[in-house]
Amino acid sequence: MAAGEGAYSGAGPTGVALTLALPKGRLFEPLVAHAEACGLGLGGVLAEAGRRLVVEAGWVRLLLLKDADVPVYVEQGVADAGVVGLDQVLERGADVLRLKRLPFGHCRLCLISRPDAARRDGGTPLVLASKYPRLAAQLARQRSLLVEVIPLAGSVELAARLKLADAVVDLVETGRTLRENGLAPVEEWLRVAPYLVANRAAFHLHGAAIRALAQKLGGARV
Ligand code: PRP
Repeated sequence: MAAGEGAYSGAGPTGVALTLALPKGRLFEPLVAHAEACGLGLGGVLAEAGRRLVVEAGWVRLLLLKDADVPVYVEQGVADAGVVGLDQVLERGADVLRLKRLPFGHCRLCLISRPDAARRDGGTPLVLASKYPRLAAQLARQRSLLVEVIPLAGSVELAARLKLADAVVDLVETGRTLRENGLAPVEEWLRVAPYLVANRAAFHLHGAAIRALAQKLGGARV
């Protein structure tokens, strides 16, 4: 149970009730399917959550959040653990424990542009649009690229297509969004997968319960 929260009194197989932060975005459906396949008994309750933001499911309390908010709830200890993409953890710069890389929803964070985009000479900043302004700037710096970043909230491919920006930095999963908008990945900048993450203090207090959850969820230890 997260420090400072006293409302939930359920107890799991290890006798501990956990609060988990889960993403409602693109990872939600594969997460529901994965949780069901792992026999966690959460698939049904998640599938029927509707508009509820908190779902109590026996041994866990589930917080259904915007993807970007999952690292915040876990870092602050409102949730003991959570499932979130590496993209969101790095964008937030969240101090959370990464326990497992989960075996679904893998994709790539790419530099994307129009096929006809002109190459920049060294002195002019490349204008990048991204939902990940901090991460895009950091990855560009690592590549010694001079950039100016325009933060956007979504549908960023449009920014490249309509020349709001020279290029965008965004996730590519199936590649369908790029194909249907006449864009192409120029470079892969980061492999992205969902992780089981934990709050440091909660892992210290409830390590057995969180490790039991990690074992049930499968995936690769990191
Ligand atoms: C993500 C990402 C791309 C798309 C890539 O967007 O930002 O737009 O998925 O997936 P694909 O390669 O399988 O087409 P998301 O669905 O999270 O929506 P958003 O653009 O509104 O943020």
